[in-house]
Amino acid sequence: MSEHLLEFEDVDYRYPLATAPALQGLSLRLPKHKKTALIGQNGCGKSTLFLIADGLAKPDRGIVKLDNIPLTFDRANLKRWRQRVGLVFQDPEQQLVAPTVAADISYGLCNQGLPESEVAAKVMQTLADFDLESLAMSPLQHLSLGQKKRVSIAGVMALQPELLLLDEPTAYLDPVQTRNLLIELDAIAKLGTTLLIATHDLDFVYQWADWVLVMERGRLIAEGETLAVFDTLQSLPDFSLGMPILWQMWSRLSAKMPAVPAPRSIEEFTSYLEKYRSPTAPNP
Ligand SMILES: Nc1ncnc2c1ncn2[C@@H]1O[C@H](COP(=O)(O)OP(=O)(O)OP(=O)(O)O)[C@@H](O)[C@H]1O
Ligand SMILES: [Mg+2]
Repeated sequence: MSEHLLEFEDVDYRYPLATAPALQGLSLRLPKHKKTALIGQNGCGKSTLFLIADGLAKPDRGIVKLDNIPLTFDRANLKRWRQRVGLVFQDPEQQLVAPTVAADISYGLCNQGLPESEVAAKVMQTLADFDLESLAMSPLQHLSLGQKKRVSIAGVMALQPELLLLDEPTAYLDPVQTRNLLIELDAIAKLGTTLLIATHDLDFVYQWADWVLVMERGRLIAEGETLAVFDTLQSLPDFSLGMPILWQMWSRLSAKMPAVPAPRSIEEFTSYLEKYRSPTAPNP
């Protein structure tokens, strides 16, 4: 069995009528059971990668594999593939299909052929997990963008895919809903779901991800454990995405600190400062 759940080998993709390719020679491997973040500038190809990974777009060249099984576009294979891979679109308007919130969440579950009682129980649980109970019967067109995003995430997570692809999941969410989402994501990661999140929020990536993939102009330019990737990016002269705030603060202080791994959360950062503060420093 492969240690990698999803693999792209030398994949090219150009949208119909586009002048330039969106993906060119993209190769990557996604580690199983890890929390991976995908970063890169606007237009570098993150959402296109997701469309291909979910079998919604067909590469012009190259191979895409899930657990060593190549993606083919016959109906039977596509159906099996989509049962294993769940995609939350960047734009929730593209995702939602049913008239109400509860109907939308039940849509995918019904398609899985589950008995009615099981669908009903899962819908109730999902509405509770995503704080959507009061909106259950609301028409989708009456929801705010952040509420629509939450419904689209809830609908895909209810299906419990083996690989969950989330395109900018925290866009439009307020801080409370962002925290709730992270709790849900951590819970399913602990159950063994492999997660891939495309985001521009580097502070989130630094604290959340086990593994990071970096794209530029349709290709992968860096991959690895989170700290190692940010260390590499920092040394690339043309890299313009910026760096996480904790990484920046630690890199300024670390020359004066013992050689310990960089802190990945505010709590770790504060505890290091307290532990290693010079005994001659005045108390605040
Ligand atoms: N439907 C489309 N038709 C033509 N070109 C497209 C289409 N969708 C995307 N593109 C082009 O493909 C390239 C990759 O776009 P993609 O949406 O994958 O980037 P992204 O990394 O997800 O960007 P963002 O960070 O803005 O979400 C861009 O140059 C974009 O202009
Ligand atoms: Mg995108």
